[in-house]
Amino acid sequence: MGRAALRIRLLGGAVLAATAVAGVLTLGAGTATRPLYKDASQPVPKRVADLLARMTLAEKVWQMTQVDKGFLSADADITKYRLGSLLSGGGSVPVPNEPAAWVAMTDAYQRAALKTRLGIPLIYGIDAVHGHNNVIGATIFPHNIGLGVTRDAALVRKIGRATAEEVAGTGIRWTFAPCVCVARNIRWGRTYESFSDEPKVASALGAAYVAGFQGPKLGGSPTSILATAKHYVADGGTDKGVNTGDASLSDKQVRSIYLPPFTAAVKQGVGSVMTSFSSIQGEKMHASTHWVTDVLKGELGFKGFVISDWAGVAQIDGDGSLYSFEDVDKGIDAGIDMVMVPQAYQLFQAVLTNEIQKGHIKRSRIDDAVRRILTVKFQLGLFEHPFADRAATKTIGSKAHRALARQAVRESLVLLKNAGHVLPLKKGQRIFVAGKNADDVGAQSGGWTITWQGSTGPITPGTSILQGLKQVAGKGARIDYSLDGRGAKGHDVAIAVLGEGPYAESNGDRPDDYGLNLDAADDVVISNLRKAHIPIVVVLVSGRPLVVTRELPSLKALVAAWLPGTEGAGVADVLFGRVKPTGKLARVWPRSAAQAALAPGEPGALFPYGFGLSYR
Ligand code: BGC
Ligand code: BGC
Repeated sequence: MGRAALRIRLLGGAVLAATAVAGVLTLGAGTATRPLYKDASQPVPKRVADLLARMTLAEKVWQMTQVDKGFLSADADITKYRLGSLLSGGGSVPVPNEPAAWVAMTDAYQRAALKTRLGIPLIYGIDAVHGHNNVIGATIFPHNIGLGVTRDAALVRKIGRATAEEVAGTGIRWTFAPCVCVARNIRWGRTYESFSDEPKVASALGAAYVAGFQGPKLGGSPTSILATAKHYVADGGTDKGVNTGDASLSDKQVRSIYLPPFTAAVKQGVGSVMTSFSSIQGEKMHASTHWVTDVLKGELGFKGFVISDWAGVAQIDGDGSLYSFEDVDKGIDAGIDMVMVPQAYQLFQAVLTNEIQKGHIKRSRIDDAVRRILTVKFQLGLFEHPFADRAATKTIGSKAHRALARQAVRESLVLLKNAGHVLPLKKGQRIFVAGKNADDVGAQSGGWTITWQGSTGPITPGTSILQGLKQVAGKGARIDYSLDGRGAKGHDVAIAVLGEGPYAESNGDRPDDYGLNLDAADDVVISNLRKAHIPIVVVLVSGRPLVVTRELPSLKALVAAWLPGTEGAGVADVLFGRVKPTGKLARVWPRSAAQAALAPGEPGALFPYGFGLSYR
């Protein structure tokens, strides 16, 4: 449905909503001078109970509503409706996209929320999935696929902490991360958001990320941010690796492969969990009382709140992004506490209100949802510290954070082949660099960088791999470059930085076998380099293992660099032997596209799970 048509239907919803709100407001009771919920010395459950008892149905419904800031018809709607939450989806950024503008924007939204009758602060969410990646100038860390290789929980915890500081520095206290998915088919476009195809790695590193984001205690410091374990559950287990698809898995398979990272995150105290767009045995996760209420909240004892995915509730009845009664009944009944609407907010609240008033959704379910949301808001300290932490703003893209990212890059590389010890590079060598990903900060950062899909080019300050090589080699070193590999003659060694361009979510799905191969441009680079008769080292920048079986014999060395982020010098550190490679594959590397879903431990991989060479 086009946007114009949607608008007309929304306006109807808006009129309805405004009337309801006005009625409630005139009935609203006066409040005491210092209500208990505003007293920080009171225990959180008491504050929640006190506040909940003061709230009207409309206020509760809006507390459960999350809107993308880009879809606000007017900023005044925050006050008018008493919105509970805003988000920035991928690329939903202020103009100009710089820290000061983020601070001004989130503070202004917060002021609008605090003007309401009860003054409940907003909670603002964003996808800080590899650093504060929507913000130009933020530190971009390796995507999870690279972090999995490190097996370094202490490192991941530090990355979580650094990211939390940068996020809090823009007035945001909630990240939709970590993705604790176990990607079991590399055709899936979100494979790079997965630490590993082994649940134990996803569990350990996911929990470490949660500990880093939230700190020892949720709200224990002004830079403690709420983490989100996503996407619950079995997003990485869909048939043929189709994004948002159906997973024909048994209960036992879900429990043994896909559930453990959520169990670990809950144990770590994760404050929110996001449901998956995908289904299990035909049942949408957004409508699954079994998985959301019985298993997550019941069995695992999850005490935080469940956030839907982007219009995930609207998709329940299978007709796309409009909210129907069926969608809202099923989603809220299943146990979703806050709905990432993210656009049709008046319509959503009108439908939800109607369903409650008709008795189709129990008021106790609404109270439970709001109680969970308010609990987290109190725990985070939002009532006491609603505005951006200026001290943290200075940490955005700081030297210390970039040094940490560079360390993560070094640890995330996997040396897959090193014939004749061509690596490390030697002093005095004439080095030729080639390939589309050699000098491109956008490409090496991948999707979810500045925009939702990411893009090639100098999209944010950082060090490309080529720049990193030049830096580490130092003055006087001879490093030449061409995009297509021509001009390599006369050099001692060639480094071809090849692989994938940026993508996110379904755009990254590769249903066709050729989509897992090197592309035509990369083939040209290799064939041009071969004409120079010098050793060829390939560095792969990609969000998944690619099928390189055919090319491998003509290469002296192969390094998997995944999606390293802004600190390309970390790649150079390893290539020059400043540090030895320590990374071990955290997923199997297939020999052919037929092995796209090869499980760890199954025979026949080109490189098995756990493989990784080092230097002498
Ligand atoms: C993605 C989530 C993300 C959300 C908000 C969805 O499309 O599946 O991972 O957190 O958008 O950007
Ligand atoms: C948003 C993303 C979101 C996606 C969902 C995009 O428009 O920017 O954040 O994940 O839609 O389809």
